[in-house]
Amino acid sequence: MLPGDGIGPEVTRAALHVLTIVRPDVECVEAPVGGAALARGLPALPDQTRALCDRSNAILFGSVGLPQYEGKSLPQRPEYALFLLRRDYELYANLRPVRVFAGLEDASPLRPEIVRGIDMIVVRELTGGIYYGQPKEQRSVGGVEEAVDTMIYRAPEIERIVRIAFELARARRKRLTSVDKQNILETSRLWRRVTDAIAREYSDVRLEHLLVDTAAMQLVQRPGEFDVIVTENMFGDILSDEAAILTGSIGTLPSASLGVRGREGRPFGLYEPIGGTAPSIAGKNVANPTAAILSAAMLLRHSLADDAGAERIERAVDRAYADGLRTAELVRSGDSPLSTEAFAQAVVERL
Ligand code: IPM
Ligand code: MG
Repeated sequence: MLPGDGIGPEVTRAALHVLTIVRPDVECVEAPVGGAALARGLPALPDQTRALCDRSNAILFGSVGLPQYEGKSLPQRPEYALFLLRRDYELYANLRPVRVFAGLEDASPLRPEIVRGIDMIVVRELTGGIYYGQPKEQRSVGGVEEAVDTMIYRAPEIERIVRIAFELARARRKRLTSVDKQNILETSRLWRRVTDAIAREYSDVRLEHLLVDTAAMQLVQRPGEFDVIVTENMFGDILSDEAAILTGSIGTLPSASLGVRGREGRPFGLYEPIGGTAPSIAGKNVANPTAAILSAAMLLRHSLADDAGAERIERAVDRAYADGLRTAELVRSGDSPLSTEAFAQAVVERL
């Protein structure tokens, strides 16, 4: 368990509370990461933390990033830990399910009738594209400062993530939306060509291609129609935040980042809330632990082959919302909010 910064420690503690009741046999060891490590004079991803991950089946991650590191170079920032973990464990498949809890439709910035029934999963490529391509630097050329990031994809990287998306779509509503920018980007042209080729193996799945700007628009226009969305790293970063807020709170959305390296036949993975560190509410026991709790459920499903345990947690969270329980950011005026710990306890009572 790598709690990290901001609200990370309190939401992962809440998730662990739930997890240990469902699976008392799971051994969980904590280690510093991100700003929590930098503050102790360690690198963002200390060697000991990495060694612990090497010995583990999965990582339950909190969040990393703090305002005081904003101006620093990437290796000096808490986010570098995530950058390294994703790269070094090749966690290429980032699954971000977006679902509106029954009873929470009124929390969305969109009208309830648009929001009802949103149930999609964003499949984001996580170890390629502009995040990792070389060259990636700031430099001075003829006395003029410039900076470059490189967007590069190799066909096999596209193939493996698109395949995961097709498999997920096949097990769901059989609709896959592939998002690119093929009117401008060469990487997108390759993306589309590879995706079309793989689509021949999945004739039962309806594939559509959307340009990323159109996708951004349609996500607010017809969110309920999306089933599985697959896209490259940076588009996925942006669209998954947009999709997340449709549900009313970014504090409810879990994620799984799955790797190639298997443990006991299951993928090694990193499981984290997508909502970030929320420094302004950190340490106050008010953050919504739902995303962290549901990340623990995803951990059971994907890395520990425990579907039953995962569903138990997911149903308990559903019930908590159906019973009207809310943390501060979701509470309706007049009602009193539950603290982070109290919400976790309420989930435990509903397991
Ligand atoms: C995410 C985050 C990260 C990303 C940051 C913290 C580096 O925004 O997981 O979506 O950009 O991938
Ligand atoms: Mg992001």
